[in-house]
Amino acid sequence: MKRAAILISGGGSNMVALVDSMTGDHPARPVLVASNDPKAAGLARAAARGIPVAAVDHRAFPGDRAAFEEALLEPLLAAQPDIICLAGFMRILTPSFVNRFAGRMLNIHPSLLPLYPGLDTHARALAAGDRQAGATVHLVTSALDDGPILGQARVPVMTGDTPETLAARVLAAEHRLYPAVLRRFAAGQTGRLDL
Ligand code: GRF
Repeated sequence: MKRAAILISGGGSNMVALVDSMTGDHPARPVLVASNDPKAAGLARAAARGIPVAAVDHRAFPGDRAAFEEALLEPLLAAQPDIICLAGFMRILTPSFVNRFAGRMLNIHPSLLPLYPGLDTHARALAAGDRQAGATVHLVTSALDDGPILGQARVPVMTGDTPETLAARVLAAEHRLYPAVLRRFAAGQTGRLDL
């Protein structure tokens, strides 16, 4: 059984989708949900599901990313994860942190990478007049929102879409994509999943 740790920064809707998918014959189970924000609403949602939680406030380490990561590593390594899922985790991780989990740290990004790495993906897709948008799950490398793509989900852009309406449509697709990709990854299946 693979041990999955999930890192969040906010509401944790992707975390909930992942946790709720890891049942029955799923080859992974959640062992920790951790956040850089002690007030992240997702922490209470994880605790309500009986998942161990941890919070390390990145604001306690101003300008010292390495010190924050050192503190985060304590509960993270104690959970002995096989897989780490970044799910709405909004901190950039240093190469040394990323390299420690090379090949077994996943992230979900709300665009069809390589389009629109970084922030404000929906507004950028709308400004470009894209007819499609979506989400990508990829292995995390030290380059931001880069790394081998494990899966993508596409959604239509509708006339009159705002960044908010598009974000909601993409988020629903994320909740289908991430659990499906994690299940395959935990089972050792390679090859992209396109939804
Ligand atoms: C989602 O759009 C996800 O793609 C991005 O963070 C947003 C919020 O995710 N990484 P969640 O609801 O906290 O899972």
